Amino acid sequence: MDSVKSENINAKIVIVGSGIAGISAAVELTAAGFTNVQILEATGRSGGRIKTGDNVVEIGANWIHGPSEENPVFCLARRYGLLDPEALTPENQAMEVGGHPPWMTCLEILEEKKWADADKATRSLGFSVVSNLLKGECCVNGTHSLDEVGLGAFSLYKTLPGLDCTFPKGYEGLIQNLLSELPSDTVKYNCPVRCIEWNNTETESPVIVECEDGDRMTADHVIVTVSLGYLKKHHSTLFRPPLPLHKLHSIQRQGFGTNNKIFVEFDSAWWDADCEVMHFLWEDENSLVDKTLDLQSSWIKKLFGFTVLKPTERYGHLLCGWIAGHESEYMETLSDQEVTQAVTQLIRRFTGNPILTPKRVLRSQWFHNPWTCGSYSFPGTGCSSQDLKNLAEPLPTTGPQPLQVLFAGEATHPCFYSTVHGALLTGQREADRLLSHYSSTSTNHVLSKL
Ligand SMILES: Cc1cc2nc3c(=O)[nH]c(=O)nc-3n(C[C@H](O)[C@H](O)[C@H](O)COP(=O)(O)OP(=O)(O)OC[C@H]3O[C@@H](n4cnc5c(N)ncnc54)[C@H](O)[C@@H]3O)c2cc1C
Ligand SMILES: *[C@@H]1O[C@H](CO)[C@@H](O)[C@H](O)[C@H]1NC(C)=O
Ligand SMILES: *[C@@H]1O[C@H](CO)[C@@H](O)[C@H](O)[C@H]1NC(C)=O
Repeated sequence: MDSVKSENINAKIVIVGSGIAGISAAVELTAAGFTNVQILEATGRSGGRIKTGDNVVEIGANWIHGPSEENPVFCLARRYGLLDPEALTPENQAMEVGGHPPWMTCLEILEEKKWADADKATRSLGFSVVSNLLKGECCVNGTHSLDEVGLGAFSLYKTLPGLDCTFPKGYEGLIQNLLSELPSDTVKYNCPVRCIEWNNTETESPVIVECEDGDRMTADHVIVTVSLGYLKKHHSTLFRPPLPLHKLHSIQRQGFGTNNKIFVEFDSAWWDADCEVMHFLWEDENSLVDKTLDLQSSWIKKLFGFTVLKPTERYGHLLCGWIAGHESEYMETLSDQEVTQAVTQLIRRFTGNPILTPKRVLRSQWFHNPWTCGSYSFPGTGCSSQDLKNLAEPLPTTGPQPLQVLFAGEATHPCFYSTVHGALLTGQREADRLLSHYSSTSTNHVLSKL
């Protein structure tokens, strides 16, 4: 790692957001010698979309996607001793699974049924299976419908080798370990940033950050790590002067959608011990047309199924349902009782057991979280790799005071968007940008003296 010349370590750097991107930027800058690094976090906690609840239930990120040497989240988790021994084995790291969660097995059903020359009933089943498969893909992509996912940009997403693994004591352990690398007062909590005034020429520092409570602080550089959903919604008030048009258009083109989890706990398991996923197939879904007619009665049909959380010793008898898109956003507006009732009815209907009753139901609400405004990004239709570059572009790139506002966060990674490792790498990227800025200006400085 570069380290900065002593005359620059006082540069004031403000980081907006204490998720994995903001924290990794702060860790890198602090380790390089910057002493004036401040994270401003809107909520009372760090981690953002990494959020572990009671009983190690992951409200947000769950897996390390592609846990192998190239994955910085894997390497950090290993260093901090946060993983199960199986996850560390070379066999696990070498597994090539194409980055898909374990529910993509229904394709096999299609093949088994020799679907091409099937009778009407089998065909109808085939449609139900495909429909279910698409719902699962919507969850993976965090989108309402795959029609909204840009085909051109599809191939941008890269998977890493390794069989996805989890954090046995919770993903937030990663956040706690990283925070322990920072001076204790680095994060200021309950401090939503309202406006970033950049391009100031009258004041000594080019940027002024204004918080919700009216507090204003000056900075040489601000690293913005808020979600793409937040940017889409608040860009016009968050930046003064406004963002350049090409950047704004890229923010609008890039997709940001909702994927939520519904955890359902039972006193005992009513599923087989070897069951990993349950899919719900609906007979009347023999057309792939998007039906958003009556959300109130049909939202639950968007839930593609449940994964079974294992091991039982850790989680008890716990299922995790997955639901994406508008139905998911609608689900967030319902009361706990309404969600519980819909899930209970669904399970009773599909098992034929009229008395099955969950002990507890807990759902995420990422769309209505005012600091996230959804779950994660996906390449929208018409979105190209240039748009992803534009999202990551700092302001301004040239002039006497470049790099006043920098952009990190999941959505700004060119190929690992929508993941924790992608977010972490973008934080490091922007820290590196500042490091090389200061090392090169220092070098120039030294050279001009010679
Ligand atoms: C349901 C779900 C499941 C997921 N599963 C996985 C998974 O299994 N594996 C995986 O790799 N990834 C997964 N992800 C994605 C992963 O969680 C994110 O990509 C990653 O955590 C994003 O980190 P970030 O730092 O970019 O953003 P965030 O974590 O969103 O951090 C941004 C921070 O900025 C704060 N903020 C927002 N506005 C302001 C403001 N105005 N002022 C101050 N602070 C502000 C927010 O409160 C937040 O703390 C999942 C996400 C969700 C929602
Ligand atoms: C989105 O879905 C497509 C098609 O089903 C899949 O190939 C792609 O990997 C998904 N994107 C992500 C980020 O997982
Ligand atoms: C930044 O300030 C300079 C000098 O005052 C001005 O010429 C330029 O237009 C400003 N840029 C933006 C994006 O407002």
